[in-house]
Amino acid sequence: MRDMNVINPYTQEVIGEITLSDENEVEKLIDKAIEAKGKMRKLSSGEKAHILKEIIKGIEQKKETFTETIIQESGKPFKYAKAEVERAIQSFKFAAEEATRLPHELFDLDATEKGKHLRGELIYFPRGIVFGISPFNFPFNLAVHKIAPAIAAGCPILLKPSSKTPLTMELLKEVISTTKLPKGAFEIIHCSRETGNNIIAHPKIDVLSFTGSPGVGWKMKAMAKKKHTVLELGGNAAAIVAQDADLKLAVEELLVGGFAYSGQVCIHTQRIYTHKSIFEQFKTLYLKRVEQLKIGDPLDQATDFAIMIDLENAKRVEKWVKEATDNGAECLLGGERVNNFYTPTILTNVKKGLKVRDEEVFGPVVIIEPYATLNEAIHTVNDSRWGLQAALFTNDISKRNLAFNQLEVGALIHNKSTTFRVDNMPYGGIKDSGFGREGIKYTMKDYLEPKLLVRE
Ligand code: SIN
Repeated sequence: MRDMNVINPYTQEVIGEITLSDENEVEKLIDKAIEAKGKMRKLSSGEKAHILKEIIKGIEQKKETFTETIIQESGKPFKYAKAEVERAIQSFKFAAEEATRLPHELFDLDATEKGKHLRGELIYFPRGIVFGISPFNFPFNLAVHKIAPAIAAGCPILLKPSSKTPLTMELLKEVISTTKLPKGAFEIIHCSRETGNNIIAHPKIDVLSFTGSPGVGWKMKAMAKKKHTVLELGGNAAAIVAQDADLKLAVEELLVGGFAYSGQVCIHTQRIYTHKSIFEQFKTLYLKRVEQLKIGDPLDQATDFAIMIDLENAKRVEKWVKEATDNGAECLLGGERVNNFYTPTILTNVKKGLKVRDEEVFGPVVIIEPYATLNEAIHTVNDSRWGLQAALFTNDISKRNLAFNQLEVGALIHNKSTTFRVDNMPYGGIKDSGFGREGIKYTMKDYLEPKLLVRE
């Protein structure tokens, strides 16, 4: 076992400590989860819904503590941290509802002579133990996206939060320990990357659910071999602003899309393609609004924009922006770093092949470019190895239909930011952005295995 400090990225103060589990400790937690497996399977849908509602009550009583913990460990501004707590509660509510409507199908098999008088009954059983790995950027809600559906589906879950933001999960553990959830059905594992990899490959783990960086995610999938795997990875999300768009709306939505939590969001608006006839107007309005962002202490309720998670990431963004400007890009705003603070940055004329355009920047950098035709814009958006979410601003339904049919993404968001997400919608990407969908009901499908009974 090894202790590790948790650092507040804004003040750089040590705000907590976690103990990394070694292999022995992990084996014990897996044994406890195995014991819980049978008990979880026997829970009725009403009992599971009741447990989920108990968890909601427990979180509601500690809303302020959860909000403050998220701010302290992630540096996320107050308004976004508060919204995250509300979303986590909402996710548990959706799970409590879904727990009572597990899928179950009954059908006739008499379409052929052989199946005459026979029926099929398809029942969904819990797959077993889920190993969830959640990232730093939503320390609460993205972990809850794995925990709540696991409980609703009747699966024990071992959750490894990011070692940068583990304290919110410790709080949740306290809340869950007061409920009737069978012991061992929910455990937090803090561990090294190597131990985490061993858990992924462990024969007693049945499902891997990972949210995080693409490079890591696809390697994990290879390690998980035959295990059922869900990957929620990143992208370089793009928004298209058509010439008939409501410009004010587009600017306000994409202000949040580009700069909420310093762009450290998988669906962060990284690229904005605006019709050439309105490009200058959009540029002026957008720059003006970005300059008005209130930069400051994340604990301050009025703060819009604070810091990045750590120095390493801020330096990486700095390097990528420099690569772009060294290769002809124009920096319209920002482009400066002080420690782990990176200024809101807007670039234009960024060529294909540059990291800040083609890779996931995961920082406060937005590229704005003009386009001539919608087909050209769609082609440019698709010219990427990622495909999570895209946004289109237009009031023309035929443009929306064209974009929806042709964009290579998991979701097209009409007249809202690329960062739009409500927690029961199917969420996930194609291409290198992921494998499978989350969004309570959809996650549950991944945690359940259908079994067919053929009978008279
Ligand atoms: C993500 O960053 O992966 C998820 C974004 C969200 O849930 O809003």
